[in-house]
Amino acid sequence: MSGVNEIRGKFLDYFASEGHEIVASSPLVPRNDPTLLFTNAGMVQFKNVFTGAESRPYDRAVTSQKCVRAGGKHNDLENVGYTARHHTFFEMLGNFSFGDYFKERAIELAWRLVTKEFGIPADRLLATVYAEDDEAAVLWKKIAGLPDHKIIRIATSDNFWQMGDTGPCGPCSEIFYDHGEHIPGGPPGSPDEDGDRFIEIWNLVFMQFEQEAGGIRHDLPKPSIDTGMGLERIATILQGVHDNYEIDLFGALIAAAEDAIGTDARDADGRLIPSFKVIADHLRATCFLMADGVLPSNEGRGYVLRRIMRRAMRHANLLGATKPVFYKLVPTLTREMGQAYPELRRAEGLIMETTEAEEVRFGRTLARGLSLLEEATEGLDKGAALPGETAFKLYDTFGFPYDLTEDALRPRGLTVDRAGFDAAMEQQRAEARRSWAGSGEAADDKVWFAIRERTGATEFLGYDTTVADGQLAAIVVDGKEVETLTPGTEARLVFNQTPFYGESGGQVGDQGVASVGDTRFVITDTHKVADGLFVHRGALEAGELAVGDAVTLTVDVKRRDAIRGNHSATHILHECLRRVLGDHVAQKGSLVAPERLRFDFSHAKPMSTEEIAAVEIGANARVRENDEVDTRVMAIDEAMESGARALFGEKYGDEVRVVSMGRDGNRRFSVELCGGTHVRRTGDIGLVVLTDESAVSSGVRRIEALTGEAARQYMANQRDRLRAVASAMRVSPDDAAARVEALVEERRRLERDLEEAKKRLALAGPSKAEAAKTVAGVNFVGRVVDDLPGKALKGLADEAREAAGSAVVAIVGRAEGRASVVVTVSPDLAERFDAVALVRAGSEALGGKGGGGRRDMAQAGGPDGAKADEAIAAIAAAMEG
Ligand code: ALA
Repeated sequence: MSGVNEIRGKFLDYFASEGHEIVASSPLVPRNDPTLLFTNAGMVQFKNVFTGAESRPYDRAVTSQKCVRAGGKHNDLENVGYTARHHTFFEMLGNFSFGDYFKERAIELAWRLVTKEFGIPADRLLATVYAEDDEAAVLWKKIAGLPDHKIIRIATSDNFWQMGDTGPCGPCSEIFYDHGEHIPGGPPGSPDEDGDRFIEIWNLVFMQFEQEAGGIRHDLPKPSIDTGMGLERIATILQGVHDNYEIDLFGALIAAAEDAIGTDARDADGRLIPSFKVIADHLRATCFLMADGVLPSNEGRGYVLRRIMRRAMRHANLLGATKPVFYKLVPTLTREMGQAYPELRRAEGLIMETTEAEEVRFGRTLARGLSLLEEATEGLDKGAALPGETAFKLYDTFGFPYDLTEDALRPRGLTVDRAGFDAAMEQQRAEARRSWAGSGEAADDKVWFAIRERTGATEFLGYDTTVADGQLAAIVVDGKEVETLTPGTEARLVFNQTPFYGESGGQVGDQGVASVGDTRFVITDTHKVADGLFVHRGALEAGELAVGDAVTLTVDVKRRDAIRGNHSATHILHECLRRVLGDHVAQKGSLVAPERLRFDFSHAKPMSTEEIAAVEIGANARVRENDEVDTRVMAIDEAMESGARALFGEKYGDEVRVVSMGRDGNRRFSVELCGGTHVRRTGDIGLVVLTDESAVSSGVRRIEALTGEAARQYMANQRDRLRAVASAMRVSPDDAAARVEALVEERRRLERDLEEAKKRLALAGPSKAEAAKTVAGVNFVGRVVDDLPGKALKGLADEAREAAGSAVVAIVGRAEGRASVVVTVSPDLAERFDAVALVRAGSEALGGKGGGGRRDMAQAGGPDGAKADEAIAAIAAAMEG
């Protein structure tokens, strides 16, 4: 008997030895198709290779592809548990030819694998072909030697494969396995084909066409091959069982569930109890979706995941589990499938914590919801319907997704009034609409609310990818919706999903481009409006755009990476500030841009140099720790209980993202509520440099910092400046500071010397005899000097008076067009002359007023330096009285 892992390995190896490239499974959230909720077939990742829009370095490939068929076009959720073969998650094995081999070789390869490698007896097999495909019928006869009655022509869509409403497609041929007469059921195409006797195991699609919107179908550039074999189905045959859930892999999962719940998985007849199938299947979907970045939420893909999880949890409850058990099964799945899908191992911690939290949360309302359901259905006869309003109440108040209620009633033969449920939902929406309409929102907002109503919230893919396709849901030009856009026009675009981050929480919006073929719309800003609608602002550079178009949205990755670094560094700095300055530090504002970060926080006084250094050292130590950055989704109250830092006064939803990074013993260093985008590991930040610390307002300080390449550049600039300074002073950078200090000291000395020299120069003017005149019978020295500081004038006047013996001295100093005047009178003349009166006379001549001092020494000034000589004359005149 071959285990699932061996079968998968054998399939891949077989095609590899036939020249096929082994290509890894693509993620469950398709990046290249905005119309698909989940990857639902192996060919999804090759869609554009078939159409010729994308080329790969190989023209044959083989994969084992993760698929989910829940929600959206292919939805098997309701059937899981009640049939032998339905799954939400399954693996599709497939080989592909991109214009290389076609029908004949595809049939040869398939037949040989099935009969020789897998050793399935040929007489157990039959094939179907599309009714018009004579060529395939002939080939089956030639290659497999199947008799005519085992080559069945089918005219329906069963034998024409399409991925979705659009995309590559073509006729197909399916291989069926006959489980034998003891199982009821007829061959394909017969009235009782739905029985379980004949089971399809492999679908070979002869890709020939591309289906476009509006029914147009044209030829692919080259005929190609796409095949799909459900791994679980082939395993049942190779393991000699009939029910997919009886294969080894599910055996391990179901055994783990038995252990965790403490009850047997089989009924008295040895049959698997449906709830165990549900749990085992939903466990796989849950883990694989989370490993690919989908987390439970109330919209879009996250809501499909939540529905799957809650359905599993109710079934665990049905089996008697009263405490969370589902999350305990995760390690078994990782053990069984982690080798083939390492992403499961990487995400194990996240998956377990998120699942347990979801179980705790749903556990709180599950019992009350179920008893309400019990009451509401009491007395309902088989075939009756639960009122839609009750189903809505279960959904709205108790967190019961619609299909969970349906699932709970199904074993009792009851249904749900879907129309009533939808009506109740619509009524709630209408009330919400009224409340925003009545809240006086700006006219511009109305257009967004209308779009939000129609399209739902935009699904944000940017936590996991920076490139993804989106479908254009609305175009807004000058506040009004339009259908198409022509080049040169500025517009705001809304897509059903986007990797572009919309500005919020201090983090700026993403920039980038939306493109398809020659069409290019350059996005300069992204922001969020109307409760979850992402608006991409920009201009159409080339080509055309119309609502409904699928385009590739490409975020400017370099810019986004810089933003990530700055955002994670902000969290680290926040915690470092608390540790250095104290617990009073609380975030007051923040800006996370690509080129820098800014963080405002409560703190009463400027940070000291030592404190700034301690914060910077601490932050860089966390960066070098290179710890993983984890994100969890939690209920707001749980997050608060767990001690996550939240912003005071900020409005949070019921569910929040909690971002943790760094280690502190066995706790995390930083834990914050945050919807932003972050680095994978703290080491990705590279470097943190604090560039500024300042005041914002009373009690609020601001730090500014750089990270990564911007920090390196900043440091390099600083270094280059230092080098320039050092080289100008002809010393090494190490000696530059000492040299600057020495220069400053030397300059101070030189200034002093210069002043001294100027004074001396002024005194060494004309000889004493020339300078001194006799005025009013006494010696009078009157002199005009230039460019001496005002305080030097007094010293000069004293010196001149001493030199003259008995005298009146008047000195006018001119500097920068203005003038100062000083008058001194020797003691023997103090009776006759008042220096204050004399200086006033001088000051008036200079256009000034007043002046002051004592009888023997007074000083004044005036704006008119050009009148210096007149001032001397005026003083002399005053002496004469
Ligand atoms: N794409 C084909 C399928 O999903 C093989 O059945």
